[in-house]
Amino acid sequence: MAAVSTTSSLPRHVAIIMDGNGRWARKRHLPRQAGHVAGVATVREVVRTATDVGLSNLTLYAFSSENWKRPQTEVGALMGLFRLYFRNDLAEMVERGVRVRVIGNRSRVADDIRQMIEEMEKKTVANTGLNLTFAFDYGGQEEIVAAARELARAAKESRLDPETITPELFATRLFTSGLPEPDLVIRTSGERRLSNFLLWQSAYAELLFVDTLWPDFTPALFLEAMGQFANRERRFGSLPEAVA
Ligand code: IPE
Ligand code: IPE
Ligand code: MG
Repeated sequence: MAAVSTTSSLPRHVAIIMDGNGRWARKRHLPRQAGHVAGVATVREVVRTATDVGLSNLTLYAFSSENWKRPQTEVGALMGLFRLYFRNDLAEMVERGVRVRVIGNRSRVADDIRQMIEEMEKKTVANTGLNLTFAFDYGGQEEIVAAARELARAAKESRLDPETITPELFATRLFTSGLPEPDLVIRTSGERRLSNFLLWQSAYAELLFVDTLWPDFTPALFLEAMGQFANRERRFGSLPEAVA
């Protein structure tokens, strides 16, 4: 296993598409919900590992804007699990100095969950450890369109000169404003797509697709993924240092 020995070799921001809960359950002849329950245990372990190694930013894709299309029973079970997780894990996160944020479209989420999210963000706002962001009812295209709409409105009302719109300005209108862009995006379960996750922000992210299903994703595999990142050469359109 490639160990992550120093914080200097850690990516600044890791984002994870937690996929494969349903297949994990199916393999065991269990209902899909059982896979989501197992997936929450993995979330807990991965967050602990992130704080243990001193990672600065971790973003987890928990529910996409498209996941509402799933059967009501599954959506209901997922919402129930978010409630449990937000309620039961807040204390440990506070203790570990984690700052929690939730990005996504809050208007579609049940009132009590919205309140929990607000409370969690408020209770952890001053924490200086891991920045933990949940993408929840999140869609990258929706996020980009919302930013464009806001800028267009400002221009229409003569509060903004369109010529001053730069990528940097645009990024300040995204949910992730203030967070560095992800250096590493991991997707579990063998699927090789982004499924509307951090489309703008992942422009230069390293993508790592692992075959493991999310409930089977262990702290060791997480560390190995970060170790692999340390060995990748990032160019950002330029040339490697040795050639330049
Ligand atoms: C990921 O697992 C969890 C969510 C999308 C909420 P899936 O539920 O997508 O599991 P598979 O892809 O069907 O195995
Ligand atoms: C992406 O997984 C969303 C989350 C992991 C929360 P999906 O399982 O919903 O994505 P598709 O449908 O396979 O693209
Ligand atoms: Mg899936």
